[in-house]
Amino acid sequence: MNANQTALKSRSASAFDVERIRADFPILQLKIDGKPLVYLDNAASSQMPQPVIDRLVRYQTTQHANIHRAVHTLSETATCEYEAARRKLQHFINAREEREVIFASGTTDAINLVMHGYGRKFIKAGDEIILTTLEHHSNIVPWQMLAEETGAKIRVVPINDAGELLIDEYEKLFNARTRFVGVAHVSNALGSINPVKHMIAFAHAHGVPVLVDGAQAAPHMPVDVQDLDCDFYAFSGHKLCGPTGIGILYGRAALLEKMQPFKGGGDMILSVTFEKTTYNTIPYKFEAGTPPIAAAIGLGAAIDYLSAIGMDTIAAHELELLNYATEQMNHMPGVRIIGTARNKASVISFAVDGVHPHDIGTLLNQEGIAVRTGHHCAQPVMQRFCVPATSRASFAFYNSMAEVDALIVGIHTVQKVFA
Ligand code: ALA
Repeated sequence: MNANQTALKSRSASAFDVERIRADFPILQLKIDGKPLVYLDNAASSQMPQPVIDRLVRYQTTQHANIHRAVHTLSETATCEYEAARRKLQHFINAREEREVIFASGTTDAINLVMHGYGRKFIKAGDEIILTTLEHHSNIVPWQMLAEETGAKIRVVPINDAGELLIDEYEKLFNARTRFVGVAHVSNALGSINPVKHMIAFAHAHGVPVLVDGAQAAPHMPVDVQDLDCDFYAFSGHKLCGPTGIGILYGRAALLEKMQPFKGGGDMILSVTFEKTTYNTIPYKFEAGTPPIAAAIGLGAAIDYLSAIGMDTIAAHELELLNYATEQMNHMPGVRIIGTARNKASVISFAVDGVHPHDIGTLLNQEGIAVRTGHHCAQPVMQRFCVPATSRASFAFYNSMAEVDALIVGIHTVQKVFA
């Protein structure tokens, strides 16, 4: 380790006590085949701290009932806690109103809600939808389904060799038929942070609404939907130290009011006869059936936990991890980082000469190191870089510099095995 790296480590340790944070996460104490777990698959799903686990246990053992349906004590308690979680999410993303926060089952569900609720109502044959090369399949496939159904067209923003969107090309895609933009805030495959604020302002100047897929941004940086001025913002609870099965769709109230429901059923109605159903107000119009109550309350506890640390603090620590890992890997012969955008968050995709990514993943796992290998549900990104797959290390605030060192040692081991 050189002097800079030593200084970086000690600065990081003084600013942010990662060992104290790690003690909150029981799963981080696990050993895999006798080796300490080094969990670097946070872009796929993050781990859950004890206060969130405790909150779920408290809910299930003392507060559970169905919500919005009965006057008994447990139902009122569960309803209160569920709606309190909504308010926590509202403040977390600085939405103007709590009714702009819809509980969905995850980012994919939230994007599908927008496709069905907004797209099927307002996008017609010949209309154009702008997406980017960096999108996760969840922000491609729903729009392709809509295009097939309606005859709308999809236009794609290209990227450069660093994995950055070509913003000039984005701007050139706009014309009189442009009706919608979908863009990832952060690429899950490469970590590129996209200039979404500028892209939204440009789209709005053409009267076009924008959906931001925030699945890989909300866990890693402060998100302010009013500052971004986005129309929709989607993210998942399980990448934010919360449970699976819960996600958020933020939507601008005026747009949500105009949209049609995605799913029909209980709780999303005001009245039902066989002649006509009238729909509930937002957000309930989009929350048909019994929602994931426990998961929403668990996510609220995760938001409390993250907010106590501070999203700025989290972003700063993760940037140190990313910079440190990038510097180390840049000095490793035979290792190539795929995705070298100037503005990146928490993700390093890489290739090792002569070794298939799945072999890298398997050998790293033997060292206790969890990374994701594959196309990362972003096949257009893989096609752009002419690779079938990459290995991807993705960091969370509870990762340490020592874990980056373990990754580097692990990659050396992989190279030795295949030498
Ligand atoms: N979208 C998640 C990932 O990037 C699952 O791994």
